[in-house]
Amino acid sequence: MSLFEHKEFDQHEQVVFCHDKQTGLKAIIAIHDTTMGPSLGGTRLWNYPSSAEALTDVLRLSRGMTYKSALAGLPLGGGKAVIIGDAKTIKSPELFRAYGRFVNSLSGRYITAEDVNIRTSDIAIVAEETKFVAGTAEKAGDPSPHTALGTYLGLKAAVKHQFGKDHLTGIRIAIQGLGAVGYDFAEYCHKDGAALFVTDINQAACERAAQELNATVVGLDEIYGLDVDVYAPCALGATINDDTLKLIKAKIIAGSANNQLATQAHDHMVMDLGILYAPDYVINAGGVIHVCSEAANMSRTETDQKVRDIYHTLDIIFTRSKAEGRPTGQIADELAREVIAKKKAERFA
Ligand SMILES: NC(=O)c1ccc[n+]([C@@H]2O[C@H](COP(=O)([O-])OP(=O)(O)OC[C@H]3O[C@@H](n4cnc5c(N)ncnc54)[C@H](O)[C@@H]3O)[C@@H](O)[C@H]2O)c1
Repeated sequence: MSLFEHKEFDQHEQVVFCHDKQTGLKAIIAIHDTTMGPSLGGTRLWNYPSSAEALTDVLRLSRGMTYKSALAGLPLGGGKAVIIGDAKTIKSPELFRAYGRFVNSLSGRYITAEDVNIRTSDIAIVAEETKFVAGTAEKAGDPSPHTALGTYLGLKAAVKHQFGKDHLTGIRIAIQGLGAVGYDFAEYCHKDGAALFVTDINQAACERAAQELNATVVGLDEIYGLDVDVYAPCALGATINDDTLKLIKAKIIAGSANNQLATQAHDHMVMDLGILYAPDYVINAGGVIHVCSEAANMSRTETDQKVRDIYHTLDIIFTRSKAEGRPTGQIADELAREVIAKKKAERFA
């Protein structure tokens, strides 16, 4: 398995392969870029079919964190880690302690947090071996409310650009996923006058939204083809793909899910269909801002302001995309690279 020639390598600073024989730990920690500060990104536990697939995922995710934090104006670089294994069987305190020692060996170049299949209780065990953790229950706590607020504000920026409106009255929104982020996001939209159409595999969440937010509950696959203004993916990744783009009538895609585009090509396809897409890592940055507030000792006011800045960052991206006729995802990547290049230039000035 080659690393430097890997298609997702993208100038990563450091990639650490971790193995602990006693606990069966197999993990990869990827540090993409520390220009803006120490790298921060969650640890994902996933039963990857092969270590090659784990490597591809961790490289792609850590690069994403570099861009996300840079555009959110955080003093953080990008990194990510994956632990390879089945979440139902592999977890043990010893495994998380072994992992914590690997994180600690990087002396703060990588700060870890929760991600898929990693709970705050797991991170608490990692924290027994290293101080380089964020998002612990005792400190910043659950980032979801900030992610929901940022997603709502980002949606407002999109609505302003696409429909010229400063409020959501009369805007019809299809929300996919009513979990920790999706439900709070739905509440903000409802309070702002939007009409909601919701779906979730969790029927109780749907019923609650119907009762409390006057939402119309629709089927899992029905969510794409609705006659709505906004499609808000707040559950799964890769829901913007060849199949769903044949169905989506919404003129805005704005939601909290990570990795919404199935491929980079869909960035262009969405634009060609006249849909305004709020790049996922920009609109859902409320979570990393929240976690950073703990890692970088940011005040509550500073944290809230950075979440509110998501509106302005998207405003810049949408304006530039329209002026240059280029997709929003491409513009976001470019802006992130500009932020990092400026910092590098300052350093060498
Ligand atoms: N929590 C955060 O702060 C945060 C930050 C950044 C990005 N995100 C992303 O936002 C998304 C939601 O995160 P969350 O924390 O709310 O997760 P969550 O697990 O609390 O909620 C996800 C919801 O989606 C539902 N769901 C699963 N499969 C579905 C399907 N096929 N159709 C419809 N609904 C389905 C689940 O039942 C659940 O209610 C994820 O993609 C996550 O990676 C979350």
